[in-house]
Amino acid sequence: MATSSSLCMFWFSLLAIFSNVALKADARAFFVFGDSLVDNGNNNYLATTARADNVPYGVDYPTRRPTGRFSNGYNIPDLISQAIGAEATLPYLSPMLTGQNLLVGANFASAGVGILNDTGVQFVNIIRMPQQLAYLEQYKQRVSEIIGQQETERLISQSLTLMTLGGNDFVNNYYLVPFSARSRQFALSDYVPYIVSEYRKILMRLYELGLRRVLVTGTGPLGCVPAELAQHSRNGECSEQLQRAAGLFNPQLQNMLDSLNQEIGSHVFIGVNIRQSSIDFISDPERYGFVTAKVACCGQGPYNGIGLCTPRSNLCPNRDIYAFWDPFHPSEKANRIIVQQIMTGSTDYISPMNLSTIMALDAMANV
Ligand SMILES: *[C@@H]1O[C@H](CO)[C@@H](O)[C@H](O)[C@H]1NC(C)=O
Ligand SMILES: *[C@@H]1O[C@H](CO)[C@@H](O)[C@H](O)[C@H]1NC(C)=O
Repeated sequence: MATSSSLCMFWFSLLAIFSNVALKADARAFFVFGDSLVDNGNNNYLATTARADNVPYGVDYPTRRPTGRFSNGYNIPDLISQAIGAEATLPYLSPMLTGQNLLVGANFASAGVGILNDTGVQFVNIIRMPQQLAYLEQYKQRVSEIIGQQETERLISQSLTLMTLGGNDFVNNYYLVPFSARSRQFALSDYVPYIVSEYRKILMRLYELGLRRVLVTGTGPLGCVPAELAQHSRNGECSEQLQRAAGLFNPQLQNMLDSLNQEIGSHVFIGVNIRQSSIDFISDPERYGFVTAKVACCGQGPYNGIGLCTPRSNLCPNRDIYAFWDPFHPSEKANRIIVQQIMTGSTDYISPMNLSTIMALDAMANV
């Protein structure tokens, strides 16, 4: 009697374990690479100054505490996870990312990084792109030990990836100081094709590692963020040189993605035009429920754009009516608008097709 009931318990637990595996593996795995727009806490584990681990970061997150996300609440990856019915990914460096949690995917992003290895050197210990890619290889190894190599390949090939890079290659490299090394080496019109060609190598590596659906965001309107307005703007107009940089980078990025897809013969890389969604709410903030798209919610000085968001900064009472949370990063509300366009936007926002279309296509292919 005792034996049969413990046997029953055993089968029950086994069933629970398997259905848990099935449940977590049911939503597709999600991987995130890139910079502070998508870092959800990796830098908290590193000795770097590029971090969002103090109040009031996270003031609108469910825990009301800082998490390392550069947002008052959810960031873009969180909102994509929610939209595709998946759990939020953990930072790759989190000690909680073990066992079944690995099957949800992982976030490898690190605030401060760029396409180039020399971008963000001032932040010292950040996870540069070669290391983010090496962590994906390590991740695959760790997952293989749980579900085997074949299932791991399937998890990878049916996953979704978000990659956000490029802004720092301008802001924290080329334009970081006047006469920066890169700006002496390259005219802007030569620098852009150079970083796009380096980006191509990074994306090709993701393809070689087995990823088959990769959302690649362009840069936002770099010259219009509160930090730039505070430093360069007399009447609230956007910084011309950074706007020119973003204007050159985004179309060349999309051309590169199109050519990669052509070479591969499949729509692996999906270009996300964050600049377009941001221009929408910057040019007509009221339409999106914002009182301003120039002044940051958290910061100090003109446009709240000087320095960082800290416990001593001005903090707006209602984060939902500000497009910018801190001098560089969108508020959760603005992130929601961006993710809405990723999900259902026209080709002006996401090309060659939006994420709901991708989800529907892949659901048919993977039955
Ligand atoms: C960046 O560093 C990696 C390895 O550390 C190297 O393989 C790669 O060529 C470097 N990229 C550039 C553009 O120098
Ligand atoms: C984007 O998504 C919506 C809603 O799923 C769909 O109706 C629309 O046709 C899509 N647009 C494009 C350009 O793919």
